[in-house]
Amino acid sequence: MDRRKFIASSSAALAATAYSSNLSSAASQRKLRMAIVGTGSRGSFTWGQEVVKGYSDVVEIVGLCDHNGKRVEAAKKLIGTNASTFTDFDRMIRETKPDTVTVTTVDGTHAKYIIRAMELGCDVMSEKPLCTDEQQCQAILDAQKKTGKKITVTFNARHGLKDKKLKSMLLEKAIGEVISVDFHEYLDTSHGADYFRRWHRLKANSGTLLVHKASHHFDQANWWLNSTPVSVTAFGELKYYGRNNPFRGVNCRTCPHKQQCKFYWDVTKNERHVKLYTECESEDGYLRDGCVFDEKTDIYDTMSVMVRYENGVQLNYTANTYLPYEGQAISFNGTKGRIDLNGFSGGGFKNDELRLTRSFGKSEVITDFGPRREGGHGGSDTSLHDLIFRGLPKEDPLSLRADFRDGALASLIGIAARRSIERGGQTIKINDLVKL
Ligand SMILES: NC(=O)c1ccc[n+]([C@@H]2O[C@H](COP(=O)([O-])OP(=O)(O)OC[C@H]3O[C@@H](n4cnc5c(N)ncnc54)[C@H](O)[C@@H]3O)[C@@H](O)[C@H]2O)c1
Repeated sequence: MDRRKFIASSSAALAATAYSSNLSSAASQRKLRMAIVGTGSRGSFTWGQEVVKGYSDVVEIVGLCDHNGKRVEAAKKLIGTNASTFTDFDRMIRETKPDTVTVTTVDGTHAKYIIRAMELGCDVMSEKPLCTDEQQCQAILDAQKKTGKKITVTFNARHGLKDKKLKSMLLEKAIGEVISVDFHEYLDTSHGADYFRRWHRLKANSGTLLVHKASHHFDQANWWLNSTPVSVTAFGELKYYGRNNPFRGVNCRTCPHKQQCKFYWDVTKNERHVKLYTECESEDGYLRDGCVFDEKTDIYDTMSVMVRYENGVQLNYTANTYLPYEGQAISFNGTKGRIDLNGFSGGGFKNDELRLTRSFGKSEVITDFGPRREGGHGGSDTSLHDLIFRGLPKEDPLSLRADFRDGALASLIGIAARRSIERGGQTIKINDLVKL
């Protein structure tokens, strides 16, 4: 058998196809060598356990790094890997020689590791958000240009079944030309509150939820509209969490207000949380069950954003984080009709459908989405893994792949919104923040 035929018949062929379309590195015809920095929840599960379980034929995790030495060891056990562990990033890269580095640290530190990984010769896969401020964004763009390395941003929210269907309906011009979009994000007193318990409640860590959380939504909007955001105007306030309560503690376990607080939450009930967080507190003092009413909280819990796109579309986005139910209501308003994507439930209230209503015509509920996959976020994480590690779907007709430009633009809407809020509602031009 000649070499070409051998490669075509081996499982490595699939891997080679995936890497050549996703990664610029030398990885081909062998397993992808992947290192992970940031071995908390997302790093240890989605990029650790799930990859070992479903993609060990094409990926080898060669190194794990975290600034918390105990957490990196706990993650190694949870993942079930022989990968070496490190607290020193440069040393990990030198000793394990990965093709690619997956960045799953706290958002505000992504840029540092993305840039360093490329400088040391690696491709990068970054969790959203790519970066949390305009300086980081420019530094990443400059480093990418200098090194020529490949950055993939792992936007799993593009991979929901209904989200993909909506994209194909827009490509087919089901509602003619889109004129405006209404996008409402509802976070409840469980999921929404959790951001205020954790590192996310400080701008320095998350860039606010306009960057941490809404970068998913702004990326979806950019992708659905296939256009570039031009300017952003926003309002935001902290009205419910943080200083907005008569009592507070440091964290739930030690709190004197346990009995009366509606947000009391016992982190020790979850074995994984105990292993990853409470048993690692001695290293960095990080409390996973911090008080949602911490007075140092400086992010917003109530947000409204208006975005103007290059193609003239207007996007109206809101996010509220203390609601009795959870979900999204997204509508596209076009010259020939409207598409509504509603997905919310809780508090005895449920609406979960994708609907097409034609102007002067009928309204129909769309039900054909293809099979639902196993895995995190309703199978979206599995679809993302297939795209990244197996290069599937090969042709990518829905443009599911997201590169550094997509990552930058999603972050930049959130960054611009934050700047607009800080400057009393001033309109911010994306081009004034960075040179793309
Ligand atoms: N796409 C999604 O659906 C999704 C879901 C959850 C989280 N995320 C992203 O994944 C990332 C991690 O989130 P998480 O929920 O796992 O948080 P986490 O707190 O569980 O994990 C963060 C890890 O980063 C480590 N870390 C922090 N600063 C570091 C530094 N300077 N150097 C090295 N390690 C450092 C922490 O010790 C911790 O282990 C975030 O960027 C978040 O936005 C994405």
